[in-house]
Amino acid sequence: MNTVKDHYDQQLASVYRWMAGDSKIAIKRNHEFLSQLGINPTLQGLAVDLGAGSGFQSIPLAELRFSVVAVDFCAALLSEWSDRAKELSIQTVHDDILNFSKYVEDRVQLIVCMGDTLTHLDSLSSVQSILLDSEHVLVTNGKLILTFRDYVSLELQGTQRFIPVQSDDSTILTCFLEYHQDAVEVHDLLYCKQGDRWVLTTSSYPKLRLDKNWVCNQIEEIGLQAIRHEIMNGMICIVAQKQ
Ligand SMILES: C[S@@+](CC[C@H](N)C(=O)[O-])C[C@H]1O[C@@H](n2cnc3c(N)ncnc32)[C@H](O)[C@@H]1O
Repeated sequence: MNTVKDHYDQQLASVYRWMAGDSKIAIKRNHEFLSQLGINPTLQGLAVDLGAGSGFQSIPLAELRFSVVAVDFCAALLSEWSDRAKELSIQTVHDDILNFSKYVEDRVQLIVCMGDTLTHLDSLSSVQSILLDSEHVLVTNGKLILTFRDYVSLELQGTQRFIPVQSDDSTILTCFLEYHQDAVEVHDLLYCKQGDRWVLTTSSYPKLRLDKNWVCNQIEEIGLQAIRHEIMNGMICIVAQKQ
């Protein structure tokens, strides 16, 4: 099994944008999502995007007139949209999201950690560290938005664990999920057509099985208030606010 960083650097970064489909649609979807959560241009201020990837949350946030700090440890993904970041008010930071508080003062209006990034952390104590640092840097009434997949209440069985992710004439990405007690091992099977042959590359990485009740309890324990938790677009969505 690879580390998450190696998995992105060596395999997923090269196909991430393709895998996500049309970028304009992904950005539009996040505009709609943020609007449903009441994030609008009247809020403004500083926003932090943890695990910014291809910018699918950072770009809409900047278009809503937030100044955005977009943190990700995959340089290849950040570099793909660096021109767009320069046009908008987005500072891309190539680092581990565990270090995000180094790049912002304690005046952050909004923190997002979306698209299942939280489960990429290596342990529950790393999740606690992100929550604690979020509490420290948020302004009063500032919000933290988390979206992640539920690998706890539903455990796929047998062939359900083979998930077709994306495909076209020359590339096929399928993932296979292997459930362990505290983590799911995600095996990505990438077939690329070279001439008349299909070439398979495989790589796997761990994702945390994060319980939404545990996350909500941690949020309350550090003094944030969980003001929403629901399933949105197939993911657990938790919105916490600093009182
Ligand atoms: C599933 S993608 C989500 C990207 C984006 N938020 C979206 O919704 O499309 C997870 C992203 O988090 C990044 N990532 C995962 N763990 C990280 C960590 N510990 N520090 C920095 N970036 C991390 C990966 O490089 C990847 O870009």
